[in-house]
Amino acid sequence: MKYRTDKKPERYLVTSALPYANGPVHIGHLAGVYIPADIYVRYLRLRGYDVKFIGGSDEHGVPITIKARKDGVSPQDVVDRYHKIIKESFERFGISFDVYSRTSSAMHHQTAADFFRTLYNKGKFVEQTSEQYYDDEAKQFLADRYITGICPKCGANNAYGDQCEVCGSTLSPLELINPKSAISGSVPVLKPTSHWYLPLDHYQEFLEKWILEEHREWKTNVYGQCKSWLDQKLQPRAVSRDLAWGVPVPVDGAEGKVLYVWFDAPIGYISNTRELLPDNWELYWKNENTRLVHFIGKDNIVFHCIVFPAMLTAHGDYILPDNVPANEFLNLEGRKISTTNNWAVWLHEYLDEMPDKEDVLRYVLCANAPETKDNDFTWKDFQTRNNSELVAVLGNFVNRAMVLVHKYFDGKVPAQNELTDFDREILAEMPIIRADVETNIETFHFREALKRAMDLARLGNKYLADTEPWKLTKTDMNRVATILHIAIQICADLTSVLAPFLPFTVSKLQKMLNAAPLCWDECSRLPAGHQLALPTLLFEKIEDKTVEFQMDKLNKSKQNLNSQSVK
Ligand code: 2FM
Ligand code: ZN
Repeated sequence: MKYRTDKKPERYLVTSALPYANGPVHIGHLAGVYIPADIYVRYLRLRGYDVKFIGGSDEHGVPITIKARKDGVSPQDVVDRYHKIIKESFERFGISFDVYSRTSSAMHHQTAADFFRTLYNKGKFVEQTSEQYYDDEAKQFLADRYITGICPKCGANNAYGDQCEVCGSTLSPLELINPKSAISGSVPVLKPTSHWYLPLDHYQEFLEKWILEEHREWKTNVYGQCKSWLDQKLQPRAVSRDLAWGVPVPVDGAEGKVLYVWFDAPIGYISNTRELLPDNWELYWKNENTRLVHFIGKDNIVFHCIVFPAMLTAHGDYILPDNVPANEFLNLEGRKISTTNNWAVWLHEYLDEMPDKEDVLRYVLCANAPETKDNDFTWKDFQTRNNSELVAVLGNFVNRAMVLVHKYFDGKVPAQNELTDFDREILAEMPIIRADVETNIETFHFREALKRAMDLARLGNKYLADTEPWKLTKTDMNRVATILHIAIQICADLTSVLAPFLPFTVSKLQKMLNAAPLCWDECSRLPAGHQLALPTLLFEKIEDKTVEFQMDKLNKSKQNLNSQSVK
């Protein structure tokens, strides 16, 4: 069995949770998973690492069949529709996947079936028969979500077979009082059915050592959740379901059974890597010098830290993740984001309504990321961060430096003359900031990393405010030249420290500076005489009416919701 070594990695394989293709993605997904993952891979690429960023849609599972039934279409129609929306919106938003595929693909079905077969042939599963609810009218077994009844804990009507949404209790369908099938409305009957179980208890000892002893560096929220699962002792988990939608269980006599969605979905990372690299995908999954990192939301921790590693260990050929940096949840205007209640800011709508503002959302969601606790997104905060940070700090600094060089030096980088102590301090601060950004990204502290990157723009503003070159143009052009030379080097440095966070802005800035993209460690300075292009504004102020429009839109969802619950 192979797992993490402390050797410097030769390559990185970075995955981000495969979103369910039963709805578009919203800001909660972005802040929790896709923005941090994208920052991380963009940074690694700038460092010159071999990195592959794997994404895709999770197209199986009961919620998709429920959505299909509700819309009167097939599950394939549902996933085709949302896969397209999700893939396109990620592309437009600059989430830089190397591959974005889907679990309904033939490659995935084959990879997941092979994985199951290997474990099956190695005798890693336990087959067990149990009594489960069956709808005699619809002639099918009922997934937990398809059974409703009275909650045994709080007495609410319409609790689901897996959870009561009123009191939040986790339930099993057998606990529900007066159970009813959500498909036909009939009373379900108990019928024996057999399934394959992965005996997680067999991996308890290994996982305790691997996580609790060898991965103390994992984020506190991740480590804590793993510890709590392990303290409660792991139990066998069924890896198959009686369902018509999914990867068929590849064993004789398993007709009508598919792999449990949480068994096949993480294998999707492997399938999608195979799709990207048909000839050398194994290097990324089976070589101990690869560093595997899974970006996920907190509701996915158990599957990525316990179940998937147990599956990979049972298989025997695969490396295990080196880190699983999970975020907490983002709320919206003080309420939990909800797809079903349309309480969300949908990425594809944002992109249509706010053209050229990809980086504003990337900035706000990173600056306010729920890294250690749940956080709240508000449109007011979005406006404030844009106006007083992006416009007033970053945009303002770059614009002042560029305009002054055009005004006094025809847009050519002026020569650096004698340096003052203050100049030297500023120049010394630049690599310190870069090193802090680096350390923070490498330890998954993206908020702090972004704050430090913005400190470089703050430093630039302070430098211009303190040296006031515009007051020296009549008396000391040599000094003006030095100040603006340094200011332009700060602009150039911003193109690399901000590149992982604000790729659209950085590409505009590179055009203005007429400079090729820099690598992370490259401190190549723009030489005296280098011709700059004309400046354009990097950001524009967001007016109150934009915020009001978004708030009205949300409030309409709330009104719809209230009127639905009155009915
Ligand atoms: O929670 C979710 O949205 C799941 N679809 C994530 C799956 S991650 C991976 F295992 F594919
Ligand atoms: Zn309840």
